[in-house]
Amino acid sequence: MNKPDFDILVGPIGCLAACHDEQPRTGEALKELPTLRNAAVGIRGDRIAYAGPYKDVASASAEEKIDARGATVLPGFVDPHTHVPFLGDRASELSMRLNGMSYMDIGKKGGGILSTMRSVRDANEKTLLRAGRVLARSALSHGTTTLEAKSGYGLNVPDELKQLRVIKALGDEGFQGFLPTCLAAHFVPPEFEGDPDGYVQFVCDEILPAVTAEKLAKFVDVFCEEGAFDLEQSRRVLEKGKALGLVPRLHADEIVDTGGAALAAEVGAASADHLLAASDQGIAAMAEAGVCATLLPGTAFYLRKPYAPARKFIEAGCVVALATDCNPGSSYTTNLLEVAALAVFGMGMLPEEVLWSVTLNAAAALGEQQRLGSIAEGKRADLCIWNVPSPLHLFYPYGENPLQTVLFGGRKVYEAT
Ligand code: NIG
Ligand code: FE
Repeated sequence: MNKPDFDILVGPIGCLAACHDEQPRTGEALKELPTLRNAAVGIRGDRIAYAGPYKDVASASAEEKIDARGATVLPGFVDPHTHVPFLGDRASELSMRLNGMSYMDIGKKGGGILSTMRSVRDANEKTLLRAGRVLARSALSHGTTTLEAKSGYGLNVPDELKQLRVIKALGDEGFQGFLPTCLAAHFVPPEFEGDPDGYVQFVCDEILPAVTAEKLAKFVDVFCEEGAFDLEQSRRVLEKGKALGLVPRLHADEIVDTGGAALAAEVGAASADHLLAASDQGIAAMAEAGVCATLLPGTAFYLRKPYAPARKFIEAGCVVALATDCNPGSSYTTNLLEVAALAVFGMGMLPEEVLWSVTLNAAAALGEQQRLGSIAEGKRADLCIWNVPSPLHLFYPYGENPLQTVLFGGRKVYEAT
């Protein structure tokens, strides 16, 4: 018997939004999201082999055909900033914050990041993997097929390695793609209390080399913030990571403007994230250096802070991406669609802008725009079938989940019940 033309043919598709372009989108071009009615997507192996009008492949043979008439097909979402995996319960901190205590003050009292550090240190790899899997599968059930995932709750050699090995194991399970980041410079651990410089030295001399020796990370990240690491300490960590072959990215200007955005430009970071308090000069420097602005409206919402100035980043010509920041302290959600809705209704982004920001632009924030983030020939076959008539309808009802089917690498990995 002849080999079929495709392994899977998705079609006819009511509305295809491929989110494809040669470059990540910026400025005015973000306002247009081309769509195709009566479309089809053909898949061979783990790749997209065809994306275009259904009529041109209506008679093609396929191992499996998926009828998506009436539905909207988009690339699988890319979440370019998460703290998966973690475990432990910090609900009491939520109550403290709602009663007026600040996020950083809770951290200074041994709660916050150090609380999750204790839970992660106490857990073995299997338990942490189980907790990470729950989070990852929940992200999948909201359309996320790729996650950036950080360490940063180990804060010593064995436990940072443990977290990063779990991230690798999550990717090996084959339901989603993971891009790992070493965030050893997340907070000063108790062993170095009062000595952030000593801990930074330890990160540079011990943790980062151990991580790169096992090839466990693509990126190096740092929490550049008052009460965490200052500009000089952050620069040291990022430069050391770069020297070891890692790509820098950073938590910048989340709570106060420490000049993190400008540091991101200086070190040639792939992305600077949060940016609630970024200065106009910082924004201009990022645009000039081509640093992506990864905005995390879920964090602003959850911490009850003003949103990052998304329109300023767009006007400056930055590549804007959106992410959940999924973590147990400042943004406990895996739901990137909900975060996208916050970007629309809280930050004043248009649905078209938001959809570029969770697909192609989010892939660009991870340096993966050639491989991920669009439905286009040659890209990995990661796509979602949503039970809505158009992309706009993802935002018309809110707080709903109209996801029907997810394909990851050409395999069906999720089906709504
Ligand atoms: O991105 N700000 C630093 N890190 C996380 C929060 C981590 C935590 O609270 O556990 C963030 O907001
Ligand atoms: Fe974060």
